[in-house]
Amino acid sequence: MSKSLLAPSMMCMDLARTEETLKTFKEYGVDYLHMDVMDGEFVPNYALGTDFCNQLRKLTNIPLDIHLMIERPDLKIDRFNIQPGEIVAVHWESTPHVPRVLSAIREKGAKPFLAINPATPVDVIDHLIDAIDGVLVMTVNPGFAGQPMYSSALRKIRQVREFLDSHDREDALIEVDGNVSFEHAAQMREAGADIFVGGSSSVFFKGASMADNLMKMNRVIGKE
Ligand code: DX5
Ligand code: ZN
Repeated sequence: MSKSLLAPSMMCMDLARTEETLKTFKEYGVDYLHMDVMDGEFVPNYALGTDFCNQLRKLTNIPLDIHLMIERPDLKIDRFNIQPGEIVAVHWESTPHVPRVLSAIREKGAKPFLAINPATPVDVIDHLIDAIDGVLVMTVNPGFAGQPMYSSALRKIRQVREFLDSHDREDALIEVDGNVSFEHAAQMREAGADIFVGGSSSVFFKGASMADNLMKMNRVIGKE
């Protein structure tokens, strides 16, 4: 098993607490900031944009993990000011030119990930397997925080892990996104997940302090 990584979902953050939130993230070893970019077309919602990504880049050195939930990302990728070391996930369902956008991301020194919706079969990875550093497995239908986990999510994670391993890509990472609660995170880890997007059901869970949530999440995913 590779080292688990934690990526809090920034659409769940209280903007009034940006500074203290980033400080706490640093203190508890957060690995990436998960940025849900939504265009109101690919998903029926709007969230986080290019300026917000740039603002966060100025406020912290934690790398961004940009999840593009937009139509035709191949035509818009240059607007995102992608930095070396960042993760950028592109949905298989969002453009007929997935290879083009994945290679544009790699050229910038960032890590291209292929995102797949719950109903998208695993074998779409097949002809893209050399073009990616990881797969973002959606464990809810993309668009909104606070939804229940998709019933076949754990089976899907296992299938993706098996697919990658059997194609000599043991190094490729699996990121999970959607209702990654404390309970689900442990099950997802067991199924083969490496990067955990922490949203309203874990890192931003309202019933405890953020420090407590981060400590609990780090323990559950085996970071400490
Ligand atoms: C879903 C988003 C997620 C979401 C996850 O479209 O991509 O990042 O915020 O958080 P919860 O835990 O609320 O599902
Ligand atoms: Zn996301």
